[in-house]
Amino acid sequence: MAKTIIFLGAPGAGKGTQAQRLSEEKGFIQVSTGDILRANVKNKTELGKKAKEYMEAGQLVPDELIISMIENELRKLEGKDIILDGFPRTVKQAEALEDLLKKLGRSLDYVILFDVSDEEVIKRITGRRIDPKTGKVYHVIYNPPPADVEVIQREDDKKEVVKKRLEVYHSQTAPLIDYYEKKGILVRIDASTDPNKVYEELIKVIG
Ligand code: AP5
Repeated sequence: MAKTIIFLGAPGAGKGTQAQRLSEEKGFIQVSTGDILRANVKNKTELGKKAKEYMEAGQLVPDELIISMIENELRKLEGKDIILDGFPRTVKQAEALEDLLKKLGRSLDYVILFDVSDEEVIKRITGRRIDPKTGKVYHVIYNPPPADVEVIQREDDKKEVVKKRLEVYHSQTAPLIDYYEKKGILVRIDASTDPNKVYEELIKVIG
């Protein structure tokens, strides 16, 4: 049966970095709600127009919009191994996901928690740069982009917005740790080490 893995963790914990590598090396499809939303904002779709204000303020986009967006995506990925990167982010989203997976005949295999301190998150996010052509994620110090790659900084990576995103994470998303721990499918990974070590840990877990 196709695998479904959730990547859970604070903004900047390294979910996207690990999801990209796992996709490249093991053929998983990365379903990043943040990337899908940013593409919608860029293309000025109805969803993008509704989501923009929330994203710029570091707030969560309303559950209803996210749940129907993810349902559309998952319907296209029947039979594929997927990583849900940045979804669910509220208990309501987690409950909706459970129903959706049942409807689609998919199991939920692992919930990986990327464990890292708020201080480290702020260092990572403020140094993050992105190649807009490929979506590849870099860091000015930890993983500098090649000289011929022109990178940009994300709008919501300014320090004030990052603080808000962290607050939102602790109040609205962190309760999912307990939620999935009780279901016995949460695995914690120390995400404060270098990206290769984090990847090794990840591979140990998912095999
Ligand atoms: P989203 O795009 O999902 O942002 P996020 O969860 O805040 O996560 P990030 O992309 O900031 O971090 P990451 O963990 O992927 O870290 P990365 O690998 O890039 O969401 C954006 C917005 O969209 C939300 O604020 C919300 O408004 C909305 N949204 C999205 N999903 C939603 C949902 N489900 N419900 C409602 N609203 C939703 O790494 C960060 C940096 O660190 C990089 O520079 C990287 O190179 C570096 N790095 C990574 N790993 C390491 C390491 N081990 N050591 C050193 N540096 C590292």
